[in-house]
Amino acid sequence: MHGNLQHLAAIQRIADQVRAAERAELANEARVQRRDPHDARPIVTVTGLNKAIRKDPSAFRILTGDRPTGPLHIGHLFGTLENRVRLQRLGVELLVVIPDYQTITDRDSPASLPEDVEGLVADYLAAGIDPTRAVIFTHSQVPELNQLMLPFLSLVSVAELARNPTVKEEIVASEGRGPSGLMFTYPVHQAADILFCRANLIPVGKDQLPHVELARTIARRFNDRYSPDQPFFPQPQPLLSDAPLLLGLDGRKMGKSRGNSIPIAADEDQTAQLIRAAKTDRYRHISYDPERRPEISNLLDIAALCQRRPAADIAEEIGDHGAATLKTIVIDTLNQRMAPIRARRAELIKDRSYLRTVLRHGNERARTIASATLAAVHRHMHTRYIGGNDG
Ligand code: TRP
Repeated sequence: MHGNLQHLAAIQRIADQVRAAERAELANEARVQRRDPHDARPIVTVTGLNKAIRKDPSAFRILTGDRPTGPLHIGHLFGTLENRVRLQRLGVELLVVIPDYQTITDRDSPASLPEDVEGLVADYLAAGIDPTRAVIFTHSQVPELNQLMLPFLSLVSVAELARNPTVKEEIVASEGRGPSGLMFTYPVHQAADILFCRANLIPVGKDQLPHVELARTIARRFNDRYSPDQPFFPQPQPLLSDAPLLLGLDGRKMGKSRGNSIPIAADEDQTAQLIRAAKTDRYRHISYDPERRPEISNLLDIAALCQRRPAADIAEEIGDHGAATLKTIVIDTLNQRMAPIRARRAELIKDRSYLRTVLRHGNERARTIASATLAAVHRHMHTRYIGGNDG
């Protein structure tokens, strides 16, 4: 008899937990529904969105992320980090995925990952992301997010994936070895990054647009197939930065792992050395002409971003003083602009346990969100047999 009572109490407890989870899920759903899931506006830029965000920041949930393949650089800072900070200050909810599983699409998981991930968290916080409000997480630690990949894979065709420009590029880059299965399907995984929290605003570079498009397609197909009366997933919108795309110091695309960037974490001397070695051209007169003089214009862009004024004005002031003068200006203004960020980063990187706490907290919050979404997905797909978050 006694055993029976205990059994009943246990069932009662489980029932209570199920109800609590369902309430949380419903509350979440109600909140997301307000974000007009039918919205199919095309790509937007930050300036274009300003008014809507100021009017109702709570209508937006931002998800974005950076592969942990090296320290973030000034291109990230001006192109995306500053935007995230600004939007967060306006009251927009911000989730940042550190997509560690994306690093194994074409290589082994390196032993430096823990350090790289901590470095990213330090970059984020140094740039001004508020860890008490943002959810910063690694996707390997959020199993429920990864599980969404299975139903999502069923919603895309192999031919569609083969057409994805980034996947095609990666196949070429793999030099005949051919893509891994994860490489081939990583845009679907990325759709899970975006849709697990039902984000509706995705700040990305142009190269990522096909991925956001695929996330939109998956959202639409899921809704059509499993929740036609009331769309479950909102349509995520890509958000492009208005900042000029910075080139690397060798004139090619600036990349974390290309050795041609100025890392946020670089010190003043390293910055000076990198800028001094930057490629220029043979004309003494300095003019702003991104088409014909990409390297000179890129240096002018950096100075302009730091000084928050037009690149052409800076060019005019330098005039015939040549590339050496331009470089001195870039070094000085960049170091000045970066000083407070670098000081914060230096403090943060000393406190590894704090960085880990931020991450642990982010992972936990991401899991709560992902569990609720997965439970709802199961319900929509008729694969929820015994109730509860995982049943
Ligand atoms: N693929 C992105 C990159 O290489 C990183 C990324 C992963 C991402 N998941 C994301 C970006 C979700 C935006 C949204 O930079």
